[in-house]
Amino acid sequence: MNTGSPAKYANIIPLKELDTVQKQLYPFDFYREARTQTPVRYNEHRSAWDLFLYADVHRVLKDPAAFSSRRGMEMRTENLLVMDPPRHTQMRDLVNKAFTPKAIGALEEHIRRVTADLLDEAAGRGSMEMVHDLAAPLPVIIIAELLGVPTQDRKLFKEWSDVLVKGVDENTEAAFAKMHAERGQAAKELSLYFSGILKERLTQPQDDLISALLAAEIDGKKLSEEEVISFAILLLVAGNETTTNLITNGVRRLTEDPALQTLLQEQPELVPGFVEEVLRFYPPILAVGRVAAQDVEIGGQTIRTGDQVISWVASANRDERKFDDADAFRPDRKPNPHLAFGFGPHFCLGAPLARLEAKVAAEELLRRFRDLRLADGAELVPIPSPFVFGVKSYPVTFRTQ
Ligand code: HEM
Repeated sequence: MNTGSPAKYANIIPLKELDTVQKQLYPFDFYREARTQTPVRYNEHRSAWDLFLYADVHRVLKDPAAFSSRRGMEMRTENLLVMDPPRHTQMRDLVNKAFTPKAIGALEEHIRRVTADLLDEAAGRGSMEMVHDLAAPLPVIIIAELLGVPTQDRKLFKEWSDVLVKGVDENTEAAFAKMHAERGQAAKELSLYFSGILKERLTQPQDDLISALLAAEIDGKKLSEEEVISFAILLLVAGNETTTNLITNGVRRLTEDPALQTLLQEQPELVPGFVEEVLRFYPPILAVGRVAAQDVEIGGQTIRTGDQVISWVASANRDERKFDDADAFRPDRKPNPHLAFGFGPHFCLGAPLARLEAKVAAEELLRRFRDLRLADGAELVPIPSPFVFGVKSYPVTFRTQ
């Protein structure tokens, strides 16, 4: 697979170093150092190139001919994330319509009601655990409804989808083997579950995404049951934890800066800009992977066909060459060409939905609660996945007015 001879490259990050950094609550100082010292470097432990500059990350993401998405597959089934054009374009067209800002915009009122219900439940208590009470259930409820699966099954969903994106706590072979076994089991259970739903929709189509996928054709050919299931699982897995972390990372920012709370309460029209800035500043996905499909030179290094390439979106988003005052959080930043949703043909399909859920969540929180603070004595534990940026729980206190 790896045709280069990486040992001769000078720029190697010891695995331990990167592992530790990724599990920090604030890895961004490390990325700054990487941008100045070794913006393009080979990590021989992971057998992959790491790219830290905005220009390089952008270049990789926009060029699927040179940087293929057909990398090692976690979920073992074909899905959009690991396809290249032209099949990628055809498959993506099938669901694009359901995810346009206009189609998603129609859900706003409903998303607001679900958010209000979740917050009402917590408000009476004077404190809440942001992940458990709001940020985790909101995206699961909404995507379950869009797909057309019963809301009461959302606990099961959440468990399966958590297992599918879970990393390892220790860097040992046994831990990796355990993770793969658990993921395999969860994928099997989810597939079986969706199989049941598909059977129902085949005989009685509804106004939902699963029915639409079952009816869809590419070149006169329907998708296979396996393809529909894999699509459904992708939407579930790609959209849930990411949006949970976007909402929680936004709350984290609000509690870190009380003046920001006041500003947004006085000028709620700044909330969409606030969401964009959270995406830039605390991106839920730290990096995305590709495989070089041809020899390419970047930053004076030759990346060879077959080499893995990791594009550090979280570093690109803080690149001083692209963003003025990159380490300052500015909800009125314009333009804000962050790469939190990727770029190019694989640009996040669910971006309009994630943006809307995060906007509504922030608006409703700011409208009801004053003086939002991280609870005294709370210990924040980063999610132990190398490419995910978020915390396991975020307890807060607040005043209601
Ligand atoms: C792709 C991030 C929410 C569905 C992507 C990619 C990123 C990303 C970085 C590109 C991956 C690559 O280039 O390899 C995020 C973030 C989210 C979020 C940060 C929340 C804040 C969602 C939601 C859904 C979703 C809510 C669906 C309901 C997808 C799908 C793809 C994708 C289907 C694959 C698109 C393709 O390959 O053409 N996402 N995502 N995402 N996302 Fe999201």
